Amino acid sequence: MNNNKEFPTVNIGLIGCGVVGQGVWKNLDAYREGLEKRVGSSLQITRIAIRDIDKAVQAGIPKELLTTKPEEIVDDASIQIICELMGGIEPALSLTKKAFQNGKIVVTANKALVCDHGSELFEIARQNDADYFYEASVAGGIPIIKTLHEGLVANRFKQIFGILNGTSNYILTRMEREGLDFQPILEDARKLGYVEYDESLDLDGIDAAHKTVILAFLAHGQWIQLSDMRIEGIRKLNKLDFEIASNMGFKIKLIAEITRDFRNNQLTAGVFPCLISQKEKIAHVDEVFNGISVSGDIAGETVMIGRGAGQNPTSSSVISDICDAVQALKGGPKLTEIFTPCEESADLKISSLDKIIGKFYFRIKATDAPGVLAKIAEVLANNEVSIATLNQKESNDKNGTASIMLTTHKATEQNALDTVKKLASLEFVVEEPVMIRIFNRVK
Ligand code: HSE
Repeated sequence: MNNNKEFPTVNIGLIGCGVVGQGVWKNLDAYREGLEKRVGSSLQITRIAIRDIDKAVQAGIPKELLTTKPEEIVDDASIQIICELMGGIEPALSLTKKAFQNGKIVVTANKALVCDHGSELFEIARQNDADYFYEASVAGGIPIIKTLHEGLVANRFKQIFGILNGTSNYILTRMEREGLDFQPILEDARKLGYVEYDESLDLDGIDAAHKTVILAFLAHGQWIQLSDMRIEGIRKLNKLDFEIASNMGFKIKLIAEITRDFRNNQLTAGVFPCLISQKEKIAHVDEVFNGISVSGDIAGETVMIGRGAGQNPTSSSVISDICDAVQALKGGPKLTEIFTPCEESADLKISSLDKIIGKFYFRIKATDAPGVLAKIAEVLANNEVSIATLNQKESNDKNGTASIMLTTHKATEQNALDTVKKLASLEFVVEEPVMIRIFNRVK
């Protein structure tokens, strides 16, 4: 990277110019004067790579800036900052590496790329005196990355949890409010264009897991593998779960959670639906909103709620990164260098399932016959899981089945999972049993 601290003009290239890229173009233009005063340089988007040139022209972007070849931007010596807004792993990965090798700063909204290749990319950026900014990769317009590595830098984080996927939150909110099952609301979410092309990202917790990995890195200095996380989505939930949860003072949310046990130096991370007390602020983050609670040992709890996706919120974070990137260009702090994990991170271990303690909710659909409930209770007892509450609802399906909903006292995650497995194998259990965790706030 050029270490000359004088940059009267900073040239920016965009790779990808869909919803977010067009937002960056539009908002940078609208707020240019103030932003330029703030960073002390003129900010010029000089080149934009896009697959469909006509689409960009229709969006009001001058044709002479457009190319279909992102390599031209990565190799353009006059460009100092590249915004990678194309998403996905390839070719974004190769282009980002090449940009770093050419000494450029990359600003990204690509959570999957940072999650899967962050460790490698940070290293390449450092080796090449380049830099990598990724505020828009987690929770859209909520400045959680900056909050963790700047505002709350003095803290050690015992628990970070929240809602990091707007689409699944929209579906859960409507299931709760309208007493409907998952499928009809999913159809609506699809029609509204809320669901990612790869639906599994939103519905199976994977998008939120990518974001969780990034937050865990920032808070604890370790890149967790998705395979080390408990990741479950929302497809298994039905209206009975919401009814029972509400009667007990809970909401149901897809919660991303990172918990650190500092005494034993263990970390747990996961994304799963949770019954969460209505007393929690995060329980009231509804519709497409995201919300994050960060508990630091000095600052206590900080809760941020905002828009986790969409053109304006996401471009707000990209533009914030562009401003920081300009400062880095001029010799200011680099994001890949200012992060120093807390001292215990070296020996940090991922907790095993027999060390994770929680309370659980189970829904079991079974033949409604004498002795069935007793056999279910026996399975729980054999796995050292103690029942706290119990509800039964007859099904209307005339097959002589009933749904049994129960909550448990504290048990290990391993015992709860073994219970589900055993219940599923019983001949009178007619559907895959559902297990939902009850959110546990670390004191
Ligand atoms: N599909 C994501 C969501 C978009 O619903 O939150 C932002 O990552």
